[in-house]
Amino acid sequence: MTNKSMIIGLSLAPTWVSGSSWRQSDSQIEAFYDIDYYIDLAKRAEALKLDFVFRPDSLFVDYAELENSPGFSGLDPTLLLTAVATHTQRIGLITTASTTFNQPFHVARQLQSLNWISKGRIAWNIVTALDGQQNFGLEVMPPAEEKYTQAAEFTEIVKSLWQSFPNHSLCFNRDTGQYANSTQIQPINHNGNYFKVAGPLSIPAFKDETLPIVQAGASDTGKEFAATVAHAIFAATPNKQVAISLRNELRQRANKHGRDESDIRVLSGVSLFLAESEAQAKQLYSETQSSKSLSKRIGFIKQATGIDVSTLASDAVISAAMLQPVSVAPRSRTHAQLLRNKIEQQPITVDELLKSPEVAASSHWQIIGTVSQAADEIADWFNDGAIDGVILLPGGATSSLNLALDKLVPELINRGVFHNSYDSDTFLSHLRAK
Ligand SMILES: Cc1cc2nc3c(=O)[nH]c(=O)nc-3n(C[C@H](O)[C@H](O)[C@H](O)COP(=O)(O)O)c2cc1C
Repeated sequence: MTNKSMIIGLSLAPTWVSGSSWRQSDSQIEAFYDIDYYIDLAKRAEALKLDFVFRPDSLFVDYAELENSPGFSGLDPTLLLTAVATHTQRIGLITTASTTFNQPFHVARQLQSLNWISKGRIAWNIVTALDGQQNFGLEVMPPAEEKYTQAAEFTEIVKSLWQSFPNHSLCFNRDTGQYANSTQIQPINHNGNYFKVAGPLSIPAFKDETLPIVQAGASDTGKEFAATVAHAIFAATPNKQVAISLRNELRQRANKHGRDESDIRVLSGVSLFLAESEAQAKQLYSETQSSKSLSKRIGFIKQATGIDVSTLASDAVISAAMLQPVSVAPRSRTHAQLLRNKIEQQPITVDELLKSPEVAASSHWQIIGTVSQAADEIADWFNDGAIDGVILLPGGATSSLNLALDKLVPELINRGVFHNSYDSDTFLSHLRAK
């Protein structure tokens, strides 16, 4: 048992109304694009002293999917969190911005603005993005390695821009009339492979400390990138062993780059289908898995492994020998590799594979059960050093969200793995205080 507190955040992507769950009478689906809905959620999260709320992002929609679910449609994360910032005081705010489809100057300026608006509570979730090229003048997504080369350059520029107009350059000297010491404000004169940016940024830093960075991709290159720049990784960890290995590896890699191993935290997404009894939770889970999602699952398996399970019986066994090299680059090497690893480790039936977290939950850790079962498992992962914290992704129903906030978080406090007060105000200090 450790007396350290884990880090807990809530995803503001309403996963509890995804699939067919939005059709339930209490889903509040009409509020899906209504900012008050998100402000209320963030206030609830803050009342529970959660470390952060988090908004992932997507720059495309599958318009056919909109026929029967909200899909990836939604408010821009940075605008959403700007509104949330003005209604909260202490909770951290993680926004998402892609390094493949933006300009670094825009991102540096928007995030530093949000940092001022929130008084230092933000972090940037860097994604190289899964899709959306058609909205940015590209026929195909750039190759994965190139996306990371661009991401590294983009991130360096953003960090340099944040430093280019330091807070300490502000003088506000009414007697002498000096507003700022311009010798301390420097252009960055970046001229690289992807971007040419002169700088300085048109807004001073809120504080002279770096803004925290979160990263999501976990291919080999993704892990290396995270180990050099990120304070945390939003991790897809379908089981505890994957989380332990990922955390150990990231810590070693951070060390190799001259950073302290505790500078990088693993925040695992945890998909929670919670109900009063385990049987009810299982029922909730099965009721909200639509046939649409079945065809998507089959498509994902084919893309990641080359195996077409639609032609196989549900009790047919899939084994490592059936894995084929993939002809089309997967949208996410992280997700494809996690699935291939699972099959390599142990043969599995088609039916089990379709239900596995690697296929059914974007490789996120899934807990389908009661609050007490969820608290046991989360505390166990934390106490065993598998994770530094979690991003709560409640699923299936608003009742599952309510149980996660109203019952699970207090239960984790009771078990001594989560704090019951804030002892800091900025996101970075929330992370450091752990
Ligand atoms: C857990 C996780 C969450 C992600 N969230 C997003 C997201 O919100 N928006 C997005 O465009 N891409 C997202 N991605 C995609 C990554 O940014 C990245 O493009 C993808 O995983 C490919 O990187 P890889 O080669 O390291 O796997 C996510 C990836 C992972 C693993």
